Amino acid sequence: MTAVPDIMLNDGRTIPQFGFGVFQIRPEDTAAAVATAVQAGYRHIDTAEMYGNEKQVGEAIARSGLDRADVFVTSKLGNDSHRPDDARRAFGESLKALGFDYVDLFLIHWPLPTRYGGDYVSTWKTLVEFYRDGRARSIGVSNFQPHHLRRLHEESQTRPAVNQVELHPYLTQSGLRAFCAEHEIAVEAWSPLAQGLVLDDPEIVSIAGRVGKTPAQVVLRWHIERGDIIFPKSVTPARIKENIDIFDFELSGEDVERISALDRGERTGPDPDTFRG
Ligand SMILES: NC(=O)c1ccc[n+]([C@@H]2O[C@H](COP(=O)([O-])OP(=O)(O)OC[C@H]3O[C@@H](n4cnc5c(N)ncnc54)[C@H](OP(=O)(O)O)[C@@H]3O)[C@@H](O)[C@H]2O)c1
Repeated sequence: MTAVPDIMLNDGRTIPQFGFGVFQIRPEDTAAAVATAVQAGYRHIDTAEMYGNEKQVGEAIARSGLDRADVFVTSKLGNDSHRPDDARRAFGESLKALGFDYVDLFLIHWPLPTRYGGDYVSTWKTLVEFYRDGRARSIGVSNFQPHHLRRLHEESQTRPAVNQVELHPYLTQSGLRAFCAEHEIAVEAWSPLAQGLVLDDPEIVSIAGRVGKTPAQVVLRWHIERGDIIFPKSVTPARIKENIDIFDFELSGEDVERISALDRGERTGPDPDTFRG
């Protein structure tokens, strides 16, 4: 039986530490994948306007028989909608596509520091409106570097509850994690498996053999031990079940350190300082 821990956010709300990501799942495959995940015990879904599958996520949850309140759903603002009026319209469209009157968490997807005159602060202040009116229970950011976060601290009274960033054994983000810990911003690790890249690593394969779990389970458990929030993606039913089956074992401190030492500063996705969306 699974027992996914909750993480307390700086706004007093909680988020399940483990969930299901739907990036790169085709709209026509999304409802089935989400239904499999919900049946396997997932209660946290991470989508985005840019994934083009918010509608199918909402439909799968509606059909699941669960109360809306029992599933934590995150969505994210599209990169073409950073201007306040565009953000207001886009947020309304996300809610409509999901078929919800609120999301549990809404994020600025990318800081886009070389677009919109580098003004992600106005975008952030617009998300604060959604938080205040209750349509976003929590708000946060994604792909923000410490210097982007520092600017939000200086120019807004409201702290992001989370920062969702690329993070896996080949990109352990120690500086950014320390900054977020100091400012009580929860870290969400996207591409927790580095899209599969880390699963053949000899160190990970060796630990998996020793503890009797798969390489994917070992990597996901490493994230859990470190306290980060994860939502691995899969369209493969057996893997969807395998990935949540990580709450019946622990890694030793030494094994956590061994995996952390695999860091190579290697991104699989874009650099947030230069990405233009
Ligand atoms: N904020 C952002 O900018 C951002 C960017 C990227 C991702 N994300 C979020 O993070 C979520 C997860 O990241 P991701 O989808 O990029 O990558 P990921 O979860 O690290 O890896 C997904 C890949 O690994 C495979 N896989 C999954 N479980 C496996 C297992 N047990 N054994 C072997 N292979 C396995 C999947 O294959 P199959 O599907 O074929 O089974 C898929 O190819 C996304 O879905 C999205 O919600 C956010």
